[in-house]
Order: sequence, then C-alpha cells, then structure tokens
Amino acid sequence: MRLRLAFVGFGVVGQGVAEVLRDKGRQLAERYGIELAITAITDAKKGAVADPKGLDPAKVLAWLEAHGTLAGYPAPVSGWDSLTTIRKAEADVVVEASWTDVKTGGPALEHFRTCFAAGKHLVTTNKGPMVVAPLEMIELALQAGVELRWEGTVMSGTPVISTARRGLAGCTISGFSGILNGTTNFMLTEMEGGRSYDDVLKQAQALGYAEADPSGDVLGWDAAGKVVILANTVLHVPLKLADVKITTGITRITLDDVRSAAAAGERWKLVAEARVDGGKVKAQVLPQRLPLANPLAGVMGPTNAVTFHTDLVGPVTIVGAGAGRSQTAFAVISDLLDIHRTLVERQA
Ligand SMILES: NC(=O)c1ccc[n+]([C@@H]2O[C@H](COP(=O)([O-])OP(=O)(O)OC[C@H]3O[C@@H](n4cnc5c(N)ncnc54)[C@H](OP(=O)(O)O)[C@@H]3O)[C@@H](O)[C@H]2O)c1
Repeated sequence: MRLRLAFVGFGVVGQGVAEVLRDKGRQLAERYGIELAITAITDAKKGAVADPKGLDPAKVLAWLEAHGTLAGYPAPVSGWDSLTTIRKAEADVVVEASWTDVKTGGPALEHFRTCFAAGKHLVTTNKGPMVVAPLEMIELALQAGVELRWEGTVMSGTPVISTARRGLAGCTISGFSGILNGTTNFMLTEMEGGRSYDDVLKQAQALGYAEADPSGDVLGWDAAGKVVILANTVLHVPLKLADVKITTGITRITLDDVRSAAAAGERWKLVAEARVDGGKVKAQVLPQRLPLANPLAGVMGPTNAVTFHTDLVGPVTIVGAGAGRSQTAFAVISDLLDIHRTLVERQA
C-alpha cells in the first residue's frame, strides 16, 4: 500500500522522519509492504513544496542542508501555507510536527480540524491539541472516518501510548506514575554529583535540554501536559491541564535535599502521576523522594519512564528516551505503520 504524506512543520522531527524514509524506506517497503511517499512539506520559515508524484527525501534534505530553505527546490507546487497544504496536498496522512502553545493548542488545533475536515489521517508529535482538546480531536477523527495517532507526544518514540492502549488492552489501568520530563531528571541526576541547581540548569541549557526560559520544564508544566494526554487517552478520564496539581516543580530542591535523600537510601524525582479512585481522578506533578527500590528511582539523566498500574499484570514500567531526533521520528514511523495495519485490516 502507498501512503502519501504531507508534512506540516519541517524542523528536527519532520526532517528526522524524512531521514528515516531516505535511509530505511526500502526496508520498510520490503518488510511491511508499505510505500511511504512525501507529497508535500510546509514549514513556517523554510517554505513549502509539493509534488503529487512524490518528493525524494534525500534530495529535499540535501537541498535544505545546502540552502537552509525549501525556496527554489524544483517542484510543481511551492509556497502553500499549512492550511492550504492540509487541504490541497494529494496526501493520505498529515504528519503534524509543528510548534504549539500547550495552553491554547494553537496553531496546531486548526491544523487538526482542517485535516479531519479534509478527510485525511493524522499523525502528530505535537502535544498542544492533545492537551487542550484530546477527546474532541479523537471524536472529530472518528466522525470523519480517519485515523489519529499521537505516540510521539509522550516519551517520543518509546512506545508508551500504544503499549497502554493496545499492549495492555484487557487490563484496567487505574493510574500511572512517571518521569515525563527529561530536562528535570537530567538536572536532579547532575545535582547528585554535588552541583547546585543554578549550575545544572545552565548545563541543561547549554546542552539544549532546557529552553532559555526553562519554566515549562522546571515548574512541571511540560510533564503536566503529558499527564493530561495519558489521563484522557489511556485512563479515559476527561482531565484538563488546570486539574493537575503543580507547585514549584524542582525549583526549590537544594543540594542539601538531594544529600539527605541519598543518606536515607532515597532519590528526588519529579513524579508526574494520575490515579482514578472511586470514579474520581487525582493528578499531580510534584517532586517526591522515592526509595531506590522504586523502578522510577533508577531512571537517570534525560531518560523518561512510566509505570502503569494495572489490575491483571500489576505494575508495568516502560523506560526509554523522552526526546530526540531519531527517537521522535520513530514515533511517527510506528504510527504510520499502525495506520497502515489498520487500513489493511479494514480492506480484508
Ligand atoms: N524534538 C523532540 O525531541 C520532540 C519530542 C517529542 C515531541 N516533539 C514535538 O514535536 C513538534 C516538532 O518538534 P521539533 O523538535 O521538530 O521542533 P522544531 O525543530 O522547532 O520544528 C518545528 C517546525 O515547525 C515550524 N512551524 C511552526 N509553526 C508552524 C506552522 N503554523 N505551520 C508550519 N510550520 C510551522 C517551525 O518553523 P519556525 O522555526 O520557522 O518557527 C519549525 O521549523 C513540537 O510540537 C514538539 O514539541 C518534539
């Protein structure tokens, strides 16, 4: 089966997906019987190109590397903005990897709505719409008869959402606890080496883990967004961002706190969790001292992890990358393969 892809946003993740298609497209075709063809790319600053016959990922990436823009790339169509691309591109799936404001969901919410109205499937790594209106997005996709996948919104390519929704199907998942922000986990890990909060924050910024304004990470808002996504789409409870209890994130944790936890055989972690109890959901992102025997306590550096609490298999913990170019590109590839599987089953 041939799936034609329109990319909205062609930064780290979009280009990462194009690299996978350049390097592994043939292998994916041989192994899974799927041809993934890029027919359109649109990006806020890099410009836009489209070709219904397919754009060669190797050539597009080389052009971008040489010119820093898609302008001038030889293609039958150029210059479409994101909404025009979503509406007009000859594509089966929109790959949404643009920027978003997690408090409003914009501008990606508009991309999602336009995509469903155009009857196209959607794969996203973009948290915004899945934080602001997850159930509405799922419902709109259902009504439009199209597939929606969002694996890359939580723990990048580490298969958390597919594991919970499909691998653990049949279990009741009553809650989860996780380390869902790599920047803060990296900082807490580095503080164990005896360095201050301010020092390790500077290092996290220098390494590109933390933004110039790190508040989304260190106060816990990024992790809270992921709690909302997991609560809505794994626990099936309509939790909103404002319902997640957040205090000061890791900003008040001192070296003395880290040392005294270590002396007691414990470790500070920014734990993001939600639990359903008696029909009510309690969700929070708070620093906690975990005993070293807790699997989350052993998760170090920028690595992420989540433990799902299930009735039939008990706790199930998944540990892996929370971000990264190839890791998040993989999330898109695995979602595309999953859509392909669904479409093949539907045809049978
Ligand atoms: N990188 C990761 O490890 C990772 C992991 C999980 C999830 N994500 C999520 O995946 C998405 C993409 O991440 P990224 O790392 O690829 O970010 P990025 O490198 O900043 O790329 C995003 C691209 O989208 C473009 N863009 C912004 N608004 C747009 C619009 N309205 N229409 C078309 N293009 C638009 C940006 O252009 P300008 O630069 O000109 O603004 C940029 O080139 C984000 O939502 C991010 O939170 C990323």
